[in-house]
Amino acid sequence: MGDGISIDPWSSNQSTDYDRIIEQFGLESIDYSLLPNPHMLHRRGIIFAHRDLNLVLGAHSSNKPFGVLTGLMPSGKMHLGHKMVIDQVKWFQEQGADVTIAVADLEALATRGVSLKECRRIALEEYISNYAALGLDVEKTEVYFQSSRPVVQRLGFMLGKRTNLSELEAIYGFGGDTNLGHVQAPLVQAGDIIHPQLDDFGGLRPIVVPVGVDQDPHLRLTRGIASKTNWFNVNKRKAGGLVIGLSIQEDNSAALGIGIDGRIDRGRRNSVFDKLSSILKNHGFSDILPNPKHGSIEIPGATQHDRDLIRPDLLKLEREMGGLGLLQPSSTYHQFAMGMTGDKMSSSNPDTTIFLTEDIESMERKVKSSFSGGQPTLEEHRRLGGNPDIDVAFQYLKYFFESDDSALLELEKGYRSGEILTGQMKKICIEKASEHLNNINEMRSQNAHLVADFLANDSR
Ligand code: TRP
Repeated sequence: MGDGISIDPWSSNQSTDYDRIIEQFGLESIDYSLLPNPHMLHRRGIIFAHRDLNLVLGAHSSNKPFGVLTGLMPSGKMHLGHKMVIDQVKWFQEQGADVTIAVADLEALATRGVSLKECRRIALEEYISNYAALGLDVEKTEVYFQSSRPVVQRLGFMLGKRTNLSELEAIYGFGGDTNLGHVQAPLVQAGDIIHPQLDDFGGLRPIVVPVGVDQDPHLRLTRGIASKTNWFNVNKRKAGGLVIGLSIQEDNSAALGIGIDGRIDRGRRNSVFDKLSSILKNHGFSDILPNPKHGSIEIPGATQHDRDLIRPDLLKLEREMGGLGLLQPSSTYHQFAMGMTGDKMSSSNPDTTIFLTEDIESMERKVKSSFSGGQPTLEEHRRLGGNPDIDVAFQYLKYFFESDDSALLELEKGYRSGEILTGQMKKICIEKASEHLNNINEMRSQNAHLVADFLANDSR
């Protein structure tokens, strides 16, 4: 590992060196000016990076279907950190995405020791009731339990064939003493992420997974596995353009024109190439160099953008020929709000966060005793100014409670200059948080009857 950062999705120590994370793991920064109706979390740079979001934006701008999938472990109470994920799901839903949310009960069982029965209770009372309160559209949202969706587990097994312990060791730092629950959980999660693409679950379309950056190892794993299953690879051609290559595997060699004697079955191979050529013709490429024997087609005039356009047709062809035809999932990543005590936010440490069911007095107490970026004395605060970057009250307004950008900017400037005092910032935070919690409370009771509907397709 050298001095590289490693991300352990189950650890409470997360790196916050986001620039390094982007560089080391090959994420792309988000330019929010390219987004339709950017959310305050985009405008504030909190959702800071992505993989392949262009596929989703492309589908959106050409009115084609796209989906969003995420998952939450039902291991405690739903808090502000969890809410951030659902806010993002809701934003994608407003832009036209269909929504699937996994209740990661198998993961909670395997990694937190919560029984499936307890998971169900927690999920219903603490999570799904809040999804309803936060305004997800029940007509366009499917919530399911990992334990009751067989296809997800089946995929976990099938996809498991495309990886091995060394890869999991490299990604997660697993060793000989790693509990196998921790080995299985990422494969089930790969099943979660992949399954909305299956024909029974909406079919081939871009699926975006909004998560905290701690979940990126799972996305790296899933993306790697998905591309290993692909029958047709599209790569850069050395002399310019693109090249499509056959990826011959155990279960597709006959279909791709390898005879039982291991030699090329020319008839078969040529018919595959006819189909590939016709796809390329449909995309307007007449100058192509097919080499059926070698298993490749060069397209000198194609650009990287053409790759995005050609790939769906290749995946469709793969499906027609009996393959899975999987697109790598897209993803977006958000930064974490600081915990209220200065430690990491966590449901097992209640003073670090605010729960969505928290009563106002208790919230007030937490904000009042939260970590502040103010100076020790009033005189020093007026003279030197406070530091909003480490001030919980300001940070929570920024992440959760103040949706008006110019109001937020005023608070930031006022705090930095010393004009706004720590107590005042806390008071403003408490006011805004009260409004928020009261609203969520009200919506939770108003929408309680929807909880069952969110689960209508759980075990299909
Ligand atoms: N591993 C996630 C967590 O720790 C939960 C999860 C399960 C998930 N399946 C998922 C997240 C699929 C995103 C996509 O909370």
